[in-house]
Amino acid sequence: MTSAASWHRQHPPGRRTNLALLALIALAFLTGTVSFAVGSTPATTAVTFVHAAVGLALVLLVPWKSVIVRRGLRRPMHAGRAAGITLVALVAVTVAAGVGQAVLGWTATAVTPVQVHVAAALLVVPLLVAHMVTHWQRPRRADVSRRGFLAAGLIAAGGVASALAVQGVTRGLGLPAARARGTGSTERGSFSPELMPVTQWFTDEVPPLESLDVPLRVVVDGRAVAVDLQRDATDAIEALLDCTGGWYATQRWRGVRLDRLLPVPLPPAARSIEVVSITGYRRRFPIDDASTLLLATTVEGRPLSPGHGFPRRLVAPGRRGFWWVKWVVAVEVTDRPALLQPPFPLQ
Ligand code: HEM
Ligand code: HEM
Repeated sequence: MTSAASWHRQHPPGRRTNLALLALIALAFLTGTVSFAVGSTPATTAVTFVHAAVGLALVLLVPWKSVIVRRGLRRPMHAGRAAGITLVALVAVTVAAGVGQAVLGWTATAVTPVQVHVAAALLVVPLLVAHMVTHWQRPRRADVSRRGFLAAGLIAAGGVASALAVQGVTRGLGLPAARARGTGSTERGSFSPELMPVTQWFTDEVPPLESLDVPLRVVVDGRAVAVDLQRDATDAIEALLDCTGGWYATQRWRGVRLDRLLPVPLPPAARSIEVVSITGYRRRFPIDDASTLLLATTVEGRPLSPGHGFPRRLVAPGRRGFWWVKWVVAVEVTDRPALLQPPFPLQ
């Protein structure tokens, strides 16, 4: 028979809590990233809801983790403690900014809650790795037990209930995010492009106006094709731009659809269209999407402003904002698959 003391040596209290925290952070990271990558509602609505449930389940574990932290802090000072304490602060900022987006959306702050949220979440990763190097907890076979599943089920139910509660309070009190999209983005400047925020991927910035007056290059099979954008700009669509920065706006855009810009027939090997900005930023789309993509030269009847992509930008309905390439200088038909690119821009 094992004594109570040896049982405790083999099952230090808190091991399961730490492993549950690890699983929840990994899932939060995964679902958060997928919610950015998937453009269309309702898919992104579902993923974002799961993300909220996972993130809030983490908060429910605070009482259990507090016991572990207090016990750890009573031990002699050791390398890695600073990482653990910084981790507490970063997870707190991540969760607070996430809930901030979920209840307030983006109102008037210089950076949006979701930008703070994602930046803090990215910093969590190296610190969590550092914390785990010094505090590793080995999963055990016995974790896959009826008790383990019951605990996981309770945590999941608690997370879902918390996510529903945050939604209920936000809607019940009519808080600013009550009418947010399923992605968590709140409305800013629909049908009034001058009120629409100017945001771009964090690696990019608005180029000087005098550098922007560059003709469009359309390249098929490595050869330039002549186009007259001004003459052909007769296609109009109403489309919603949902920025991963946490805001969205609907506008009426006018320009030319990519399938009408490109010569017919296209080379049989053509598989994707690369849309390139003057800044070097680029995104690649499946060739079959050409008829859904618009190279816009005006919005709400006026030329685009420099911040919104003058002289032309891509309008990519159903895709998150980072696909809507601004300051487009080239459209290139290539034989590379569209999937062969990083899911998020690296340039
Ligand atoms: C939300 C994420 C987490 C935060 C904020 C966090 C924070 C902390 C803090 C501040 C301490 C006390 C200081 C110290 O001992 O260094 C601690 C202790 C500890 N943590 Fe974490 N931790 C997290 C996740 C994890 C994970 C994922 C594991 C392992 C899989 C883990 C394992 C441990 C262990 C073993 C201790 C030591 C307990 C003791 O010495 O009795 N933690 N944690
Ligand atoms: C450490 C990892 C993460 C944790 C713990 C976390 C946790 C949370 C929490 C608690 C919320 C508030 C949910 C609510 O009350 O409705 C939230 C919202 C959100 N998170 Fe995360 N998150 C993490 C990483 C990420 C990442 C990597 C992304 C995107 C790349 C992301 C995107 C979002 C978005 C867009 C919202 C707003 C959703 C809404 O308004 O309903 N999160 N997150």
